[in-house]
This record gives sequence, structure tokens and C-alpha cells, in this order.
Amino acid sequence: MGKSIVTGAAGFIGSHLTERLLDMGETVVGIDNFDPWYDPKSKESNIRFALANPDFSIIKEDVLSLDLGKVFNEGDVVYHLAARPGVQDSWNTGFSASVENNILATQQVFESALISGVRRVVFASSSSVYGESATEDTKSISPISPYGVSKAACEQLADVYRARGLDIMIMRYFTVYGPRQRPDMAMNRLFRATLPGTYRFPLRGNGSQRREFTFMKDVVTASIKAGSLDLQEISAPFDVGGGVSASLGEVMSIVEELVGAQLRIDQEPLAVGDPLITVASTDFTESVLDWKATTDLREGLAQHYDSFKERVSSNSGEIVEF
Ligand SMILES: NC(=O)c1ccc[n+]([C@@H]2O[C@H](COP(=O)([O-])OP(=O)(O)OC[C@H]3O[C@@H](n4cnc5c(N)ncnc54)[C@H](O)[C@@H]3O)[C@@H](O)[C@H]2O)c1
Repeated sequence: MGKSIVTGAAGFIGSHLTERLLDMGETVVGIDNFDPWYDPKSKESNIRFALANPDFSIIKEDVLSLDLGKVFNEGDVVYHLAARPGVQDSWNTGFSASVENNILATQQVFESALISGVRRVVFASSSSVYGESATEDTKSISPISPYGVSKAACEQLADVYRARGLDIMIMRYFTVYGPRQRPDMAMNRLFRATLPGTYRFPLRGNGSQRREFTFMKDVVTASIKAGSLDLQEISAPFDVGGGVSASLGEVMSIVEELVGAQLRIDQEPLAVGDPLITVASTDFTESVLDWKATTDLREGLAQHYDSFKERVSSNSGEIVEF
């Protein structure tokens, strides 16, 4: 049996995925360049549990410069999560990082995976490929941000390499939250805006925008099922959504309740590139992967807050800046 390879293993979702695979008894090789886009110290912290496991090793290199052919072997499963995420940073000159770390890096992963005879690639795509069509039952690929365009291009690359015989599963994650969430994401910023200090949450619009928030444990379960189940090749993508679409205003109320403090807010105009509403269509994912998101938003946010507090106190009260 081959090993599991996780690109982006030191990131938010990749580090949880790695730990779950290790818990299942897999041998895991992580690849991560510790991109300083956000503080690499938090990435070191993300993989500290995995590093204590002798079945884990990490290659601290860029997917684009590493000789992937020397890492990938026949029968391996590659979970490809390394990317430059984040919608707002993909505007203007930020798009070059999306092109490099998303499109070019993904093409290299698919190419090497094909040549090495890996068993399957599980690719972390995003609800951002849908743009405003994310509310519809029959969604279309119509991104409204450069980041969404980069993920849509990766999905097209997947079609190209699938036609050459590579087994690729596409996972479209919907707004993932939970312990270790990236510092640019809303929930982390919300918790931060309740702590003593001056940081204020930039509220874009009136808080009525809705997201299908998805707890990281549910994302990890769906991804591992896609990587490990004995399935015939599947080209249709899997929506991976938490089960309920909630408004940002609702999340803000839960955060205030959990913390027992009021948020400091700065009112800002709605951001371009962020759809007003996202709703996942998970019937296909549920039936094929025998999966369903099980974490309720309040419960997931409580776990997120516990780990946020722990991280801040173990960091002498310092919060990772973005
Ligand atoms: N977090 C979400 O809500 C969400 C939603 C949809 C899709 N996704 C996708 O899931 C994946 C993981 O997202 P995340 O939130 O954990 O992000 P993250 O930034 O925490 O993790 C990505 C990791 O990849 C590494 N990386 C980036 N470029 C690399 C390169 N060229 N070579 C090697 N390593 C590289 C980074 O150092 C980082 O540790 C990404 O592909 C992202 O686009 C995330």
C-alpha cells in the first residue's frame, strides 16, 4: 500500500488532515514551503503534534521547485491543498501569487502524479468557483474573483489530466472554520475583536451576507473518504458544506455570547469578489462518499474559540498579525 502525501501540510486544513491520516495508521509525507503570507510560526505550531509521530515527515520546500517525482510513488494518494487562498488578496498584483501557487503548482502536482502512477489525487477546490451562482441547485462555474478564477483553472487542469488517466477527486470546500483557522478569515478576526486591545473587525456591509460555514473536522472526513474509498473514477466535483447557511450577523451574535464581550467593529462597504450568499449542494457528496457534516455551528465555534484562547495564551497574549 502506498503512503499519503499532503501538500500544504502545515496550513490550517492540511495540518488537521495530516493528523487524522496519522491517527488512522497511515504513513504521511507533508510538503509545505511555510509561505510567509501569514506568520510561519503558526504553521510550525500547526504541525507540532504530527512531528511527534514517527510515521510523519515534512519536506519544507515549494511544490514548484521540489522534484515531486522523487517524492511521489506508485500507489500513493496525494492530497493537494497547497495554495494561496484568500479572495481579497488575489486582486491587483496579488493574482501572480494565485497563478503561481494555485495554477502552476497544481499543474506540476498533476503532471508528476500521472508520471509516478499515484493512485489518486484529492484536490482542494473552493466554493469560490461558483461566484454568485453558489445559491442555485444547478450551479455554474462563474467566479467573481481572481482567486476563484485560479481554482476554476485548476479544475480544468484536472479534466485534462483525468483524460490522460489520472484519478482526481475535486473537493469544493465552503468557508472552513475551526481551530488553527487562517488569521485572515472572519471567525479568527471576530474572536480577535473581542479581546482587550484596539483591533476592530472590518464589517463589510450590514452582516446579512450568508455563508455555508463548514467545520474543519467535517472537511477532513470528506477529503479522506474521497482519497480512500474504492470508487470508480469520478469526474463530478464534491460540494463540501456544513449543512446550514448562516449570516455573518448570526455568527457575530454567537461569538459575543461565547466570549461574553462585545465586538469592536469598523463599518466598511461590501467587498468586491465575495458573493452575497453561498449554499452547498451536498446530496451527491453524501450519497457517493456516505458523508454528512455533523458539526453544528455553535458547537464548532465553541471549539474554535477554546483553541483560539489557548493559542493566544501560549503565545504570551500575542495574536498572529496578518
Ligand atoms: N479555508 C477555507 O475556508 C477554504 C475554502 C475553500 C478552499 N480552500 C482551499 O483549501 C486549501 C487549504 O486552505 P487553508 O485555509 O488551510 O490555507 P493555508 O494557507 O492555511 O494552507 C495552505 C498551505 O500551503 C502552503 N503553500 C502555499 N503555497 C505553496 C507552495 N507553492 N508549495 C508548498 N507549500 C505551499 C502554505 O505555506 C500553507 O501552509 C487551499 O487549497 C485553499 O484554497 C480553503
